[in-house]
Parts: sequence; structure tokens; C-alpha cells
Amino acid sequence: MANFNFFAPTQVVFGKGAERQTGALVKAQNCRKVLLHYGGGSAQRSELLDRIRESLRTEQIEFAELGGVVPNPRLSLVYEGIELCKREQIEFILAVGGGSVIDSSKAIGYGVVNDGDVWDFYDRRRQASACLPVGVVLTIAAAGSEMSNSSVITKEDGGIKRGYSSNLCRPKFAVMNPELTMTLPHYQTASGCTDIMMHTMERYFTNNGGNMELTDGIAEALLRTVMKNAVILHRDPNNYEARAEVMWAGSLSHNGLTGCGNGGDDFSVHALEHELSGMYDVAHGAGLAALWGSWARYVYRDCLHRFVKFAVNVMDVPAGADSEATARKGIEAMENFLRSIEMPVSLRELGLSLSENNLRLLAQKCGIATGGTKGSAKKLHEADMLEIYRMAL
Ligand code: NZQ
Ligand code: ZN
Repeated sequence: MANFNFFAPTQVVFGKGAERQTGALVKAQNCRKVLLHYGGGSAQRSELLDRIRESLRTEQIEFAELGGVVPNPRLSLVYEGIELCKREQIEFILAVGGGSVIDSSKAIGYGVVNDGDVWDFYDRRRQASACLPVGVVLTIAAAGSEMSNSSVITKEDGGIKRGYSSNLCRPKFAVMNPELTMTLPHYQTASGCTDIMMHTMERYFTNNGGNMELTDGIAEALLRTVMKNAVILHRDPNNYEARAEVMWAGSLSHNGLTGCGNGGDDFSVHALEHELSGMYDVAHGAGLAALWGSWARYVYRDCLHRFVKFAVNVMDVPAGADSEATARKGIEAMENFLRSIEMPVSLRELGLSLSENNLRLLAQKCGIATGGTKGSAKKLHEADMLEIYRMAL
């Protein structure tokens, strides 16, 4: 097992009616004034926002509001939020929504307490020294941002999507009521389940880990649990237990737990996908689904023992004498699962018809974003990235 540093400081308040505790949780943070940050309308329609406002008022917490976060959250709204927070002397940001709202909140949090342009952190020019504290009321199980150290923002000019990771932005608390996710359209539920699995697989497929029996067991159980419950939600979206399993899996998939001892994550599929959603504004989880099979077929020989283990322990493929064949069956089985929940397994199925020039631009941008190489299952260079995009057509 490789050395690791696991830091998961977020208080999780989970279950039916959990959002009623929001005011009290914010109050415990000892802040004078809060920014209530949210998305494009779902939290308004479900009246969740009204309940949160009420909960804040009950605790006599002053707040300002900024809505309008879109999926693949934009830098321009982050700038607006930073100005608002400075003007209103905001001390805490409450994100009500999914990964996009949470990431926008984290970015605003960096921008308020660090001088200069907040984009510098995402552009890898310098490191933040602090972040305004962030709390979360989660409405979609997907990105795992409610416990993660990461935030991903898109700069409109050039469609440049970049992540910045630092423990400074890990949320203080995450309120998670699985019932709040029942209003999601199926496509978002399925994209979320896909993203959750990808966070786990990006840590599972590594060549650096050595022995990691417990971490592998957790990762494999997480993957099997999400697959089983994604299928249940496909036919029964109001199934509370399935919503709950998926929501908890979302947090554990990206708080670092399933990477403990792996000696370094892969995260190539994420790097490839961030270019897609930056340029073409697709749903992140669906973008990952469209690329994963091509990535897996491109790299599996370089990480064969892990792909065989995955095929047998997660996808129920009988272990055969031919390891490569077993690995390929595991990849096929994962793609079939994605199809079964109506996720795309190619760029065409994702709705994109891309020219060779488009693909070259994606690979070039991915090369720049990753600093030249990415991956621990197989180290990818720009030429490899291009080949994977081509295979995904
Ligand atoms: O804006 P509203 O109206 O709320 O609609 C949202 C949005 O259209 C809707 N939605 C959310 N909760 C809902 C709901 N609709 C009905 N009922 C509900 N309860 O769902 C849509 C997607 O929301 P979004 O927040 O974009 O989803 P997700 O959580 O998948 O976040 C995606 C973003 O997170 C980034 C992605 O790249 C993408 O930008 N990621 C962030 C990570 C992190 N910070 O750790 C890691 C991930 O790998 C990922 O890259
Ligand atoms: Zn993701």
C-alpha cells in the first residue's frame, strides 16, 4: 500500500428532512452574513430555496442571494459573486444545488479572500492562501464536490474549463436529503451515477498502488452499489433507498477514500472530458460515458492486472486463462451497463459530430490543461489523447 494523506473534514448531515437543520448548521459557523448561491430554477420550483430562507431567518442569519449558476459554471458569474461578497461583507457561502453551484461557491470563496484574478488558480499560475468557508445543501448526486477538494470553472472566452484543487475549499458541512434528488430528469440522474463511478474508476485503474485490499474492496462495493441502484432509479425514480445509496456513494467516490494507498490517481478520462464540456457544454457525466470505453481499450494492456480484477470483481466476468480477453469483456460489460441507463458510449451518441480539426483542438487543449501528460494506468501524451478522441467518434 502506498503512503497517503486522507483529509475529509466535511460534516455530513444525511437523510429525510435534513435541510431543516441548515440554519442551525450555518449559525454554528459563527458568521455574520451569508451568500445564498444557487442555480437556474430547480431549487426554486421545488420550494427548497423557500425552506432554506426560512431556516436562515429562524436562526436570524442575514443573507444576500446570487442565483443563475449554469451547468459547467462560468467565470463571469464567479466575478459577479466576488464583487457581491465584498460589497455585502459576506463571511460564509451556502451553496444550494449540485456540483456547478458548489464549484462556483468555492471559486467565489477563493476570489473574496485572495488578491488578484481568481482565474490564476485555475490557470495554474499561483496557489490560493485561503478560501471563504462554504456549506452545501446538495440536490444532485454526481460531482462529489460536497466533500471534495476540487472546483471546476469554465472561462467563456475560448471555452476553457479548468479545475483547481486545494484542501482550503472542502465544505464545512453537506446537507444531504436523498428526497431532494427525486425531481431530477432521468438524464441527470444517470449522468450523476456515471460521474460517481468514474471518480472511483479513475482511482482504481492505477499502476502505482501495490497491495490495497481494503481500498479495492470499498471501491468495488461502491461501483456495484451504484450500478445496481442506477438501474432501479431508471424504472423507479422515487425509490428513496436507491436515491440514498447513490447519494452517499457520490460523496465517498470523490472525498479521497477510494484512492487511499493507490499511489496516484489516473483521472485521464476526466481531463479528456473537461475539454468536451468546456467547448461543447455537454453534461459532464454523459461526456465521461462517451469517452470511457475508448480510453479503456487504449490503455488496458498497460494496466492489465487492474482491468482483470475489475472485470471479475465488479462486472462479474468469469476469470479466463486469457487475461486480455477477460479485461476486454469487463470493458464491454461496463459499456453495456452505461447503455442500459441510456448513457452515450460514443461522441456521436453524445450528440457531437466532430471533424479531425475539432479533435486536434481538443487534444491540444487537453495537453495544455494537463501540463503535457496525464494518467497512471498509462501515461498519455497529446498524441494518445488525440487517438482516444478519434476512437470515441
Ligand atoms: O440549475 P438547476 O435548475 O438547479 O438545474 C440543474 C442543472 O441543470 C439540475 N438539477 C440539480 N439538482 C436538481 C436539478 N434538477 C431537478 N431537480 C434537482 N434536485 O441538474 C443540472 C446539472 O447540475 P450540475 O450542478 O451541473 O450537476 P453536477 O453535480 O453533475 O455538476 C457538474 C459540474 O461539476 C464538475 C463538472 O465538471 C461540472 O462542471 N465537477 C466537479 C467536481 C468537483 N468539484 O469535485 C468533480 C467532478 O469530476 C466534476 O468535474
Ligand atoms: Zn467527475
